[in-house]
Amino acid sequence: MKRELRIRVNGDLYHLFVEPHRTLLEVIREEIGLTGTKKGCELGECGACTVLLDGRPVNSCLVLAHEADGREITTIEGISRGGDLHPIQRAFVEHGAIQCGFCTPGMIISTKALLDRDPKAGRREIRNALKGNLCRCTGYIKITEAVEAAEDMMEEGGRR
Ligand code: FES
Ligand code: FES
Repeated sequence: MKRELRIRVNGDLYHLFVEPHRTLLEVIREEIGLTGTKKGCELGECGACTVLLDGRPVNSCLVLAHEADGREITTIEGISRGGDLHPIQRAFVEHGAIQCGFCTPGMIISTKALLDRDPKAGRREIRNALKGNLCRCTGYIKITEAVEAAEDMMEEGGRR
């Protein structure tokens, strides 16, 4: 039976009625219509579904929607502002780290979480933060370089 759910996604409040077994990933994509968050393994292994829940990265395929009741969610659609790409997104574009549309949203969300808590993260911290985001085709070198470039851009521009 559907139960009431109130969640704030990218600053907008949603008042929904959702069955208890539905995941946060399903609600974000199918009820709210934000399809930037990708459905990959649905087992917590690939990171394609990563969102921020109260500022912390989670695999939304492993979170029941009702566990997020009353909480704040940020998806990839909430990272840019008014049509301007976030420095992390610009760095990914400029460094050839947009390798496919499937893993990239999760990579960027995990990067945002990392740089919010550690703006001067080194290579080891970057690798550690992205270890839950799998790329099955291209590799991680350009992604790591893009995260380093994003740190510089954010420090210069003062944007978080
Ligand atoms: S779809 Fe959630 S971790 Fe793969
Ligand atoms: S570039 Fe997306 S899975 Fe490899």
